[in-house]
Amino acid sequence: MTVTGRFDQIDTARLTLRRLRLDDAPALAAVMGDWDVVRMTGTWSHPVDAAYVRRRIEERLDQPGFYALVLLGDDPVGMAHVAEGAIGYLLAKDHWGRGYATEVAAALVAHGFSVQDAPFLTAKVWADNPASSRVLEKLGFREVGRHTAVNRARGEKLGGIDYRLERP
Ligand SMILES: CC(C)(COP(=O)(O)OP(=O)(O)OC[C@H]1O[C@@H](n2cnc3c(N)ncnc32)[C@H](O)[C@@H]1OP(=O)(O)O)[C@@H](O)C(=O)NCCC(=O)NCCS
Repeated sequence: MTVTGRFDQIDTARLTLRRLRLDDAPALAAVMGDWDVVRMTGTWSHPVDAAYVRRRIEERLDQPGFYALVLLGDDPVGMAHVAEGAIGYLLAKDHWGRGYATEVAAALVAHGFSVQDAPFLTAKVWADNPASSRVLEKLGFREVGRHTAVNRARGEKLGGIDYRLERP
């Protein structure tokens, strides 16, 4: 993995995580427009349009941390972040099942522990998302609690799992 510039980009073996820009809104709207993707997020509405996604990107540009578009070659295939000691990731459905999320999450962990000053990293997963739990567990995250929260896209309260990875 190489990190370039003022941490504007992380290159993994197969993917690039490039800091989000406002002009990523249309590409990200296409990814977030898929119900099977957005239903596993927390605060995203459904359906989304490019103007809504642009506002969400704008909010992230003001926050500390690394919020990135995930690219396979030149193709936008997802989004990922490490910010305030927490990681998150999502991929367009066409790209599931190839180990990409694990590759992205590993890069976020390395970045979180090398650049950010976190004693541990956290992640939240809905209890009905075993694929994401598996991604975290493969990287050494362990369940440390459970919570209930509103899933905005689904419009209901759901159970979630709290994960933590201690700094090595
Ligand atoms: C969850 C998500 C990120 C996984 O991406 P991915 O690239 O397919 O993940 P990977 O291939 O790196 O790893 C997935 C692992 O989960 C396993 N898995 C997949 N579906 C599973 C299921 N239903 N039950 C248990 N394990 C499952 C896979 O076998 C794989 O484990 P393995 O390497 O031991 O075989 C992707 O499905 C996604 O973006 N979903 C929508 C958004 C989302 O859920 N984001 C995470 C929010 S916390």
